[in-house]
Amino acid sequence: MSVKEEMQKRRTFAIISHPDAGKTTLTEKFLLYGNLIRNAGTVKAKKSGKFATSDWMEIEKKRGISVTSSVMNFEYEGYQVNILDTPGHEDFSEDTYRTLTAVDSVIMIIDGTKGIEAQTLKLFKVCKMRGIPIFTFINKLDREGKDPFDLLKEIEDELGIQTYPMNWPVGMGKRFQGIFDRQNDQFIRFSGNEQEIPIPKEELDNYPELVENETFQAAYEEMELLEEAGEQLDMDAVQQGELTPVFFGSALAPFGVETFFESFISMAPQPFPRKASGELIPPDKEEFSGFIFKIQANMNKAHRDRVAFVRVCSGKFERGMNVTLDRTGKTIKIAQTQQFVASSRETAEIAYPGDIIGIYDPNVYRIGDTLVEGKNTFHYEELPQFPPELFKKVTAKNVMKAKQFKKGIEQLVQEGAIQLFRGVRNEEYIIGAVGQLQYDVFEYRMKNEYNVDIVLESIGERMPRWLKEEQVDQKLFDERSMLVKDREDNYIALFKNEFSLRWFRDKNPDIELIDLFEVN
Ligand code: G4P
Repeated sequence: MSVKEEMQKRRTFAIISHPDAGKTTLTEKFLLYGNLIRNAGTVKAKKSGKFATSDWMEIEKKRGISVTSSVMNFEYEGYQVNILDTPGHEDFSEDTYRTLTAVDSVIMIIDGTKGIEAQTLKLFKVCKMRGIPIFTFINKLDREGKDPFDLLKEIEDELGIQTYPMNWPVGMGKRFQGIFDRQNDQFIRFSGNEQEIPIPKEELDNYPELVENETFQAAYEEMELLEEAGEQLDMDAVQQGELTPVFFGSALAPFGVETFFESFISMAPQPFPRKASGELIPPDKEEFSGFIFKIQANMNKAHRDRVAFVRVCSGKFERGMNVTLDRTGKTIKIAQTQQFVASSRETAEIAYPGDIIGIYDPNVYRIGDTLVEGKNTFHYEELPQFPPELFKKVTAKNVMKAKQFKKGIEQLVQEGAIQLFRGVRNEEYIIGAVGQLQYDVFEYRMKNEYNVDIVLESIGERMPRWLKEEQVDQKLFDERSMLVKDREDNYIALFKNEFSLRWFRDKNPDIELIDLFEVN
């Protein structure tokens, strides 16, 4: 098959949600459809402390490699599905954000009883910044939740994206009866077990026991309102990330999950052209190219090797091929590769656009590197710097270890494991991360790889705002608006909270405060 045909079959996506919205439950159902697991509960075992398929962390720890976010791939109805796990909970880190740069679309799960929650919002912003198409699954219909219209309004108001309900729920919680499938003009009846019974709209009258109740009639009227509004699903707007198709269902029941997955797979985009060195590189270009979005260090001292995760963007990748690393111009033969599958690690022989491969990294790669087959190199657009939220001052416990301390920090910063800032007044080292796990890993690696014990002193959650150099007057800043510099010597104010940010803004209306999330 040609690169073009292979690429058209690829669906590479991530699932974003707030903890407990149902990501594990939904992922597990997808893996069941893909025959990747045989029993429900395999993934959910995570909660009981057993091995979780979608969550490599525990097992990787045991094996000595830690904190890997997994890539799951399987075949489904002729499509090649790649699901990239976005670590959440306490594992939330910059890797979670970076994973989103390697996908072609995203499924956003919202807990229908809670609406939009903090972590969903953060991850959503990254998708929006990059114009990634987003498909929404509103979960937990089997429980009493928020009104469907209110949920749609919440998505539109809080996330600034239009919505298009693909189906409409009839009741919820104990009154839950099923969903109207608007695409196929049918009602799908919930029978209390996994069976989903479709009834064409025109045959509904044959089911008086179903339609002659208040809940059904109220939902029917709501759906007619939607139909009268006459909006069509605008796929262009979906592709641009301006409109999200919304599906209601229950991951646990499961109900509406397989129909959702089918629609999603058929509507979700195949790999699209990506910007590199000012031009668009089509995925069906003959030469292989890809970029590194994540580097995984081995936590085991005995195995210092690392794995670099490459998103294949164009052409056909074959194991053993020679590629050029654009940053150095050096040619590298890629002999050791891994394709990530949920249950085992297989060696990848061949990969196509949309696929993710793990390549052995003898310490030569960096996050953001582009690999190209042949000599005509180019560079895929830089991954954005993500604004950290947690900040800590770091020092070496033993001053005699200053040299290793500096070396360790520099290397880990380069690798993208943490972000480094320097205090403007006293040049102190300040580390920024988006989640606590990054600190744990940082501390562990400083000790194990560089033999340095460190002391971390929290300066709390902060709101970083980048400043224009010509506007910086050191006198204006204090503890609540700590002035630091990043690696490129840009000035940043770390505000203690919303209040100190507002206070500063009121006092200094002319100073521009740049939020990385808003400008990218
Ligand atoms: P996460 O990965 O997003 O954190 O969520 P996860 O799937 O683990 O689900 C969180 C909790 O919500 C679990 O309950 C799960 O069973 C429940 N849940 C997921 N989908 C649905 C749904 O459609 N309806 C209902 N009613 N519940 C749902 P738990 O009590 O934390 O775990 P467990 O003891 O059930 O395994």
